[in-house]
Amino acid sequence: MNAKLSIREVEKVFATRTKTTQALSPTTFDIADGEFVSLVGPSGCGKSTLLYIIAGLEESSGGQVLLDGKPLSGPGADRGMVCQAYNLFPWLSVLDNTRFSHTLAANKDYYAPVAEIEAKVNRVYTLLDLMGLADFHNAYPKELSGGMRQRVAIARALANDPAVLLMDEPFGALDAQTREEMQELLLLVRLHWGKTIVFVTHDVDEAIFLSDRIIVMSPRPGRVRADLRVDLPQPRTLEQKLDPEFLRLKREIVDYLHESRSPTAVRDELLRRMFKKGGEEMKEAS
Ligand SMILES: Nc1ncnc2c1ncn2[C@@H]1O[C@H](COP(=O)(O)OP(=O)(O)OP(=O)(O)O)[C@@H](O)[C@H]1O
Ligand SMILES: [Mg+2]
Repeated sequence: MNAKLSIREVEKVFATRTKTTQALSPTTFDIADGEFVSLVGPSGCGKSTLLYIIAGLEESSGGQVLLDGKPLSGPGADRGMVCQAYNLFPWLSVLDNTRFSHTLAANKDYYAPVAEIEAKVNRVYTLLDLMGLADFHNAYPKELSGGMRQRVAIARALANDPAVLLMDEPFGALDAQTREEMQELLLLVRLHWGKTIVFVTHDVDEAIFLSDRIIVMSPRPGRVRADLRVDLPQPRTLEQKLDPEFLRLKREIVDYLHESRSPTAVRDELLRRMFKKGGEEMKEAS
């Protein structure tokens, strides 16, 4: 396999003044050119951390990320990122949000060839059309629904024509119907541009529906627990969510996710915290 992205022994330790947290154990896997890979795993297992390290927005404590065989350091136009929180600039219109990085670049590339600038401008308009935002160029984020804001965020992430699209629970805050619409839209984007996509989600159905491959991570400190191929024909349709292979894979992933949790783990943890709190109150009172 010719890897587009190689994650090589990447690990992360967060150190504050009072404690250190190993968020990610040394983690290694490759992603092929054009592949759609989802990361799933329990809360706190380091999915966002890993995505931010790939984006170059967080430094790893060890290991390397390679893009086309070259080690990455810091962020770059070759990777676009979409976060769960709609991190649009509230004071910029839809159009200005989408072309924000071009505006930044324009300050540096004052003498860029006109054809290059034209291509960028056309790209932004095409993206907004594809996202169904043609009539909203001048709208501000507060005037948009959650789904529309996330479509702007996707358009912005694609504005630089990145080779890799990184998405951290991009549809987590959307209602079920909008979420399905966004999933179909993302598949369309992928079909249209053939991007390599790394997608973090809590939703197992979403992961199976979208992905070629799913990496299941273990609880913190995260590591690869399972690396599963999704053997469902492309292009995907919503009906496939009832396909026996879809359901079999869902069972397998849910089993991996549950194996680390005892049936009473949540209740035990709550009781532990209640008694700890009670104990501290009693100490203070005495
Ligand atoms: N800036 C930080 N400083 C200290 N610890 C951090 C920091 N960012 C994350 N962590 C810790 O690292 C671990 C992994 O966090 P991360 O956000 O990557 O998890 P996640 O898998 O994305 O979880 P979720 O599914 O809830 O989004 C957590 O224990 C978290 O508390
Ligand atoms: Mg996260």
